[in-house]
Formats: sequence, C-alpha cells, structure tokens
Amino acid sequence: MDTLERLVSEARAAFDAAADAAALEQAKARFLGKSGLVTEQLKALGKLTPEEKRERGAAVNRAKAAIEAALEARRDGLRQAALAAQLAAERLDVTLPGRGSTIGGLHPVSRTMERIERLFHSIGFVVADGPEIETDWHNFTALNVPPNHPARSMQDTFFLEGEKDTLLRTHTSPVQVRSMLAHVERHRDADPMPDLRIIAPGRVYRVDSDATHSPMFHQVEGLWVGEGVSFADLKGVVADFLRDFFETDELKLRFRPSFFPFTEPSAEIDVAFMSGALEGRWLEVCGCGMVHPNVLRSGGFDPERYTGFAFGFGPDRLTMLRYGVNDLRLFFEGDLRFLGQFR
Ligand code: FA5
Ligand code: MG
Repeated sequence: MDTLERLVSEARAAFDAAADAAALEQAKARFLGKSGLVTEQLKALGKLTPEEKRERGAAVNRAKAAIEAALEARRDGLRQAALAAQLAAERLDVTLPGRGSTIGGLHPVSRTMERIERLFHSIGFVVADGPEIETDWHNFTALNVPPNHPARSMQDTFFLEGEKDTLLRTHTSPVQVRSMLAHVERHRDADPMPDLRIIAPGRVYRVDSDATHSPMFHQVEGLWVGEGVSFADLKGVVADFLRDFFETDELKLRFRPSFFPFTEPSAEIDVAFMSGALEGRWLEVCGCGMVHPNVLRSGGFDPERYTGFAFGFGPDRLTMLRYGVNDLRLFFEGDLRFLGQFR
C-alpha cells in the first residue's frame, strides 16, 4: 500500500471512530486542515519536477477527494443516528387514550348574580352600572354621609394613593345616585316622571376579613323611586325575591330595625341556614329602607313628591346560604377542588 492509499484508509478509520460531530471535526482537521496530512502531501509537490508533479498531484487530489467523500459519508451517518435517537426518545404511542378536556363552569357567585338579575328582571327592574373606583361624593356625601360623619367608620375603605377624593367603593349604593341623576336628566320634561326601577350588581371593597367578610365582595343594589312607593312595597319585593331565590315558601326570614344614613326607616334582613352544619343560624343578607329625602335630593328628585325604597344584598352570603358553605372566603381562593363542586 503506498502512502496515499494508507492515508485514505487511515482517514476512513479515524472518521468511523468519531462518535459525534465534534470528534469528527477534529479528525477532519488532522487530515484536511491547514497543517493536515493531505495538505502536507500537496505542499510536498513543490519539490517535484513538472512531469512528476502532474502525476503525483492528480493522485493526491484523488486521495483528497476520497477522504472528503468519507468525511461527508460519516457526517451523514452521524446525522441519521442523531435523528434516530431523537425519534426513539420522543416516541408517541398514538394508541394511548387521550387526556380529554374538562368542561369549565360558572363561579357559584356568578350563578347567584345571574339568578338575581333574572328574578328582578322578571318584575321590571333593569340593570344599572357604576364604577368600582368611586368619588368620595358618590360613595358617601351624596348618600347623606358627609365628611367626618361617624357612619363612615362602618365602611372602612381603600383610598387611592395621592388622591384623597377617590376610593374603591364600599357598597353599590353610589349607583343609586348615578341612576337617579341620569333618570331625572332623561325625563326632565315628563310629569309625573316614570318610576325608576334598577338593580346594580357589582364588586365592592372594605377592610374586612373573616368567615362571613371578604375584603372584596359583591353587592346587588336595588332602587325603586316613584310616587307613592312605600315600605310595604319594599317588604313585598324583597320577601318575594328571597322566596324565589331559595325556591321555598318556608324560608325563615326576619326584618330587623337598623340604621343607615341614606335610608329612613332602615332595616336589615336576616336569613336562617336551612340545612348543613349551620342549620338554624341567622345570617344578615341585606340592608334596606326608605330612601332618605337628602339622598332623593342628591339624585335630583323632589322628596315632597317622590318616595322610594332601596336595598343592598350580599350575593356572596346568599350563595353561602344556598349551598350551605360555612366560610365565604372559600369562594375567592380559587381552589378548583372547591369550585368544581358547583358545576
Ligand atoms: C350597605 O352596604 C348598604 N349600602 C346597604 C343598603 C343599601 C342599605 C340600600 C340601605 C339601602 P351593609 O354594610 O350592611 O350595608 O352591607 C350590605 C350587605 O353586604 C350585608 O348585609 C352583607 O350581606 C354584605 N356584606 C357586607 N360586608 C361584607 C363583607 N365584607 N363580605 C361579604 N359580604 C358583606
Ligand atoms: Mg349590615
């Protein structure tokens, strides 16, 4: 075997022995690199006569081509092997059963809100909306709770940094004021004005946290203003609603005299748990009363002519009662093991 043949077979052996791309590049450098063995052969041509050079040069080039071909073949082989290894590692068994997809459901409080909207809609209430970031005036002052009024401390709230007149609303009652102002504006020329009958569901915020209080919770405000609207109407509407909501005529329900600066007289409504660990325990679900003349005035109504009632339900508490849940905070922790039970 002459030098060139030996060189070619050595290169083949070295390439075949390279276990990966990096090793192969090293082997390549040994033969085809700048100071590699093949290059050495080419340089040696310089010492030959032109005659010898032609013959030897052709032979060296043939050897070089053979080595390059071997290199390419080995590269290909390594690529194939890598691909095969990857395919083996990522093998899919398409005959395995799929994971399937689970169907989501509405949050239990959202279900309650939808139910409340549906029931009130059926007796002629329309849904009104207001901002969660409220002005101090709408949340307190217009509701007959002027600055420094002690009733403000019953609804400790979150103020916006650097803005002393802007807060996260503590109840949905500011929507009463917004709705009255819009209604009066819309029906300026009507005499008498048509009745205003709205509910306002939404989120509210307070510095509160225990089993029946969450810092973010929901309320549904209700308001009916018109000529001759009375406390009897309030009792009828609210009691009927609660019986429909809980789907029973046997509901244990009590009106308890209370105080709100924005209603007079005022009451709170308690409902008893009908089943579960808390059976028989009373839970306050609503504040209500006849709209205070000062509030009617804030809303643009003449209190000598129009009267109205308002209420504010706690739908989170209604949800607790409906499903027998004993800690309201469970609704807002996002634990799917809990929430999944309401589908
Ligand atoms: C009010 O917020 C009055 N705006 C209600 C009202 C409206 C009275 C219109 C008169 C006329 P109160 O703070 O009691 O009142 O809250 C009303 C209801 O919200 C409560 O009965 C209770 O069901 C619910 N609630 C109050 N605080 C929380 C809380 N931190 N977490 C969950 N529910 C709450
Ligand atoms: Mg209360």
